[in-house]
Amino acid sequence: MTEIRRGSASRFTIEQRWQDYSEEEHAIWRLLFERQQRLLVGRACPEFLDGLGALGIAAGGIPDFRQLSDVLDAATGWRIVAVPGLVPDDVFFAFLARRRFPSTCFVRRRDQLDYLQEPDVFHDICGHVPLLINPVFADYMQAYGQGGLKALSLGHLEQLARLYWYTVEFGLIDTREGLRIYGSGILSSAGESVYCLDDPRPNRIRFDLRRVMQTRYRIDDFQQTYFVIDDFQQLFDATLPDFAPIYREIAALPDIEPHALIDSDRAFRGNSPAAGRQKNGPQSNYGPSLGRKRLEDVRQDHNQ
Ligand SMILES: [Fe+2]
Repeated sequence: MTEIRRGSASRFTIEQRWQDYSEEEHAIWRLLFERQQRLLVGRACPEFLDGLGALGIAAGGIPDFRQLSDVLDAATGWRIVAVPGLVPDDVFFAFLARRRFPSTCFVRRRDQLDYLQEPDVFHDICGHVPLLINPVFADYMQAYGQGGLKALSLGHLEQLARLYWYTVEFGLIDTREGLRIYGSGILSSAGESVYCLDDPRPNRIRFDLRRVMQTRYRIDDFQQTYFVIDDFQQLFDATLPDFAPIYREIAALPDIEPHALIDSDRAFRGNSPAAGRQKNGPQSNYGPSLGRKRLEDVRQDHNQ
């Protein structure tokens, strides 16, 4: 059984040292923020845009985690903790289970605006934190952390990692205004923000917990399948049941490839708000979008 280092999460915590950011680092944040802001109006879900405004995450520069945490904490009890980079799964889950969101501090270089190997502060803060002020999503993230600790002990982490990937990082949501983005991997990527809604190639299918847990994902390209939720309550409700019997059921089934469709899939047939407009938006010039890769994912990618 995997030893869960619940108490060791604090050993991965570092100081943000906000006062040490250079003017160039703040300027890169501004560049990224302003570009995404232009793209995301009409593409991001309203809860995300509301969260940006409520938390004061803006083009001014890299936020001070302490100030941001104070506003967030007052709303939903979440706080941001600074970490040096990807942290082990058990540590990551332990943070989430305590309503602590681990964020990297460094910002990408100017020559890495569209791709870098690991999440940076723009992805972590601008992509993830705005939704943590939404009460239902905030509860989902904590439940996910609790479920992660349990999945580790049961040896089914891969299935649970797929749930995070296809929801928190690359999820789409059906709204009254049309299809919108809530996944942070997409929201922090100029290329995939356009591709996921406009491009005819990827599958867009209705969220189904078992289907998601069976589906492999790619870390080296835009996604070939997106899962569409009805609302955040659907996500939270999906994490309520005991996953142990679901893991056993799925373990007996083959994995589904990232591009594949199966008979039980329900295609999303609603309209994309962006379809038909911006046909020439950024697409293939961009590298894969940032999502929380597991350390195992990164090792496998390097070995290919
Ligand atoms: Fe992420």
